[in-house]
Amino acid sequence: MEEPFRTIIEPFRTPAGPPTRPTTRPERGAAPAAAGYNLSALRSQDVLIDLLTDSGTGAMSAEQWAGIQRGDESYAGSPSFHRFREAVTALFPFRHVLPAHQGRAAEKILFTAVGRPGRVIPSNTHFDTTRANIEFTGATAVDLPIAEGLRPRERHPFKGNLDVAALRALLAERADAVPLVMLTVTNNSGGGQPVSLANIREVRAACDEFGKPLFLDACRFAENAWFIKIREPGYADTAVPDIVREMAGRADGMTMSAKKDPLANIGGWLALNDNNLAEKCRALEILTEGFPTYGGLAGRDLEAIAQGLSECVDDDYLRYRVRSVAYLGEALEAAGVPVVVPFGGHAVFVDAREMLPHIEPLRYPGQALACALYAEGGVRACEIGTVMFGMRPDGTEVPAAMDLVRLAIPRRTYTQSHIDYVIEVVERVAARATELPGLRIVSQPTQLRHFTARFAPLPRQESAKSP
Ligand code: F0G
Repeated sequence: MEEPFRTIIEPFRTPAGPPTRPTTRPERGAAPAAAGYNLSALRSQDVLIDLLTDSGTGAMSAEQWAGIQRGDESYAGSPSFHRFREAVTALFPFRHVLPAHQGRAAEKILFTAVGRPGRVIPSNTHFDTTRANIEFTGATAVDLPIAEGLRPRERHPFKGNLDVAALRALLAERADAVPLVMLTVTNNSGGGQPVSLANIREVRAACDEFGKPLFLDACRFAENAWFIKIREPGYADTAVPDIVREMAGRADGMTMSAKKDPLANIGGWLALNDNNLAEKCRALEILTEGFPTYGGLAGRDLEAIAQGLSECVDDDYLRYRVRSVAYLGEALEAAGVPVVVPFGGHAVFVDAREMLPHIEPLRYPGQALACALYAEGGVRACEIGTVMFGMRPDGTEVPAAMDLVRLAIPRRTYTQSHIDYVIEVVERVAARATELPGLRIVSQPTQLRHFTARFAPLPRQESAKSP
């Protein structure tokens, strides 16, 4: 029988994690300048609520810690590897599973094997390291999201979908240049939006027509499967693991970060069916990650991932996870803060371009907003916009498709009162949005600049002008 309660509570008791340390307003005012207005350069003790990322920042369960104790550190053929492989293939039945120390290591191996100048790799939207690993080989990363995916205020149940007509057009024109097609589930850069099974099937059909393999960037596969269960007609009664297997069954391989949905603090893998490609990838793996039964991880990490994989497809956990993200989103929307709707699986994305129309995209409204959230209340968020995606491989700069600020929710870490505090902080910054200055870049590297670039604030009147 259905219970009458509205509140969806955390489906676990919380052991006490590290203490949160309140800072003073003067401390928070001074810290961004010392960090070059790049919040990645802050000391995390100076952050009260850390919403920089949901990657590797979740809390492990008692059973995962038990797995850590069981970890077997044999160099080759460890039972921990076999438990890991069984847990992976129970959901993603690919022939070859190569552990890696995190998602980008799997990407590095895959794109070293298939990327080179002249090649083109389409996706719904590549995330930052995926794009950078492709571009590092000289290949071109192409984003083909559906039009709705680029309109923050437009509601669509599967805004992460790939534009299949655009994919077909690309394949018709340049099939020889495309070694594989990717689908990022959920679509992180586009707002944590899911991809429907119908879309996965259509992408598969296009790939079949042109003889191309399909790879999933599956970091948030469980959240994606939950959205399929609650939004896609015909799946309400399908168990989440079955939905995951159906997603995987349409693909030829995957790259994965175990730091997201699998609830581990480190880890990842590359999985695939093609024997020849697997052999090539295994050789590359040994060069940088290690022997293919540990791949840059300790046996204990493999155990934590194996256990996490069984916990992240649990209905109670996923209901709570998606509900708690929506709780933040609904409160911000009700307060008039422009947010990407519908709310994604791992984060709420604030539309900084709309919130700060007086700041030009090339004056980085997202970065300005992220710095203001920190100064206001010690909340650390992440710019997903022109800082992250505006620099092209030829060194020219263009505005990104959107300027968003992501409030990523670490898994099983914060409670509703932490989130209530975040809501207050965002409301207070929104109330003085017109005062916020834009930024200019003082120094930056040539790739993945958002991690280490340094900024300086501009006078208010220069924020509206392009550089
Ligand atoms: N693909 C997607 C969609 C991601 O979100 C990430 C990481 C990766 C690949 C790379 O995985 O970090 O294990 O090397 N995203 C993190 C984030 C860092 O904050 O969204 P990794």
